[in-house]
Amino acid sequence: MNILVLGSGGREHTFAWKIAQSKHCNNLFVAPGNSGTHGIATNLNVSATDFEAIKEVVLKNDIELVVVGPEDPLVNGIHDFFLGDQKLKNVAVIGPQKAAAELEGSKEFAKEFMSRHNIPTAAYQSFTKGNVEEGYRFLESLKAPYVLKADGLAAGKGVLILNDLEEAKAELKNMLIDSKFGEASSKVVIEEFLDGIELSCFVLTDGKDYKILPTAKDYKRIGEGDTGLNTGGMGAVSPVPFATEDFLSKIEDRIVKPTVEGLKKDNLPYVGFIFIGLIKVGDEPKVIEYNVRMGDPETEVVLPRLKTDLVEIFKAMANGTLSDVAIDVDERAATTIMVVSGGYPEAYEKGKEIKGLEAIEDSIVFHAGAKEVDGKVVTSGGRVMAITSYGNTYQEAIKKSYQNIGKLHFDKMHYRKDIGFDL
Ligand code: AMP
Ligand code: GLY
Repeated sequence: MNILVLGSGGREHTFAWKIAQSKHCNNLFVAPGNSGTHGIATNLNVSATDFEAIKEVVLKNDIELVVVGPEDPLVNGIHDFFLGDQKLKNVAVIGPQKAAAELEGSKEFAKEFMSRHNIPTAAYQSFTKGNVEEGYRFLESLKAPYVLKADGLAAGKGVLILNDLEEAKAELKNMLIDSKFGEASSKVVIEEFLDGIELSCFVLTDGKDYKILPTAKDYKRIGEGDTGLNTGGMGAVSPVPFATEDFLSKIEDRIVKPTVEGLKKDNLPYVGFIFIGLIKVGDEPKVIEYNVRMGDPETEVVLPRLKTDLVEIFKAMANGTLSDVAIDVDERAATTIMVVSGGYPEAYEKGKEIKGLEAIEDSIVFHAGAKEVDGKVVTSGGRVMAITSYGNTYQEAIKKSYQNIGKLHFDKMHYRKDIGFDL
């Protein structure tokens, strides 16, 4: 079949890499893609949020399956757009419909969903401009640190964790009254701070049944020792060493099952990935957030460990036969290290030539913010490339990635040197 992947990051390169290995894949397209997808698929100069332009390329290229990488098109209703169009309604879309995508699109919606279905998460209350004073009183009733979350999508920047009460109140005002994150912070969820170690669980569902993919741990902060600003993710490790069988069965029983059952009870159609951000508090898993897509860079370690044909899985999800599919996982560990532009996640320069790619041995390079210009690969974003390696242990895999990163070079290149430090 002909397949289209929407998006342009390391996650989408990894999807394309895995899909290209499938016996079911005929022609593969990525929109808009990057220099990495360029080699294995046809890049289409179409934005992942331009539904009319996507329709045109889907019809023109006889595409039968669309895999949605990022959250924006899902929250904006791309799946509903396909279902509502006579010519597109039989094209399979991997990603939930708009109503269910609210699990990521609105923090308050996600919290209400969890509370309705008894899914463990931090205690919370939400506030708007109209009751900001009550928000201040609620903050006064809590102990530091204070967790403030913009309700809507804020490109990963909408969560503030503050130690000082007065600062927390000032930020609440900034978000609600002064629109710090625009429309996204017209509502703010304030929650109890959870102290623990984070990990992510990835679930596939056809709306009836589910399958769990390998766990992964992401490193979100820019600086070593988990310091500095939040980023999209600076590296990842799979499997997560502290996710023991006992802990994984708690996650499945208390979180995954009630989530999939909850979607059914609430009549929220869902064919896609559920990315559950978790925190281990003592020995108990609690949900930090839902995302309605795969993680980036978690995809760069999860899919390389998946032995099952991904297109076979997608076909089963679209047909409602996911329960028939066996998920085979590579026993080896996989790790990835993100190479980023100097300055990221704040201002950075683009267009830097990336050298040394041909010297990489025994690692997979997934391109992210990189594009090809006149036969050269140059930087085009903050997160530039993810260097993934396998190992019998995660330490061995990390070592391989670092050895290969030593061969790469571009002006102001930066990466974290301590991925896996806390394991
Ligand atoms: P989110 O966008 O909801 O994933 O939040 C971003 C990051 O903020 C998470 O990865 C956590 O590190 C942190 N965080 C969010 N909620 C909490 C919480 N209730 N307690 C402690 N840390 C949190
Ligand atoms: N790496 C975190 C995310 O994809 O949201």
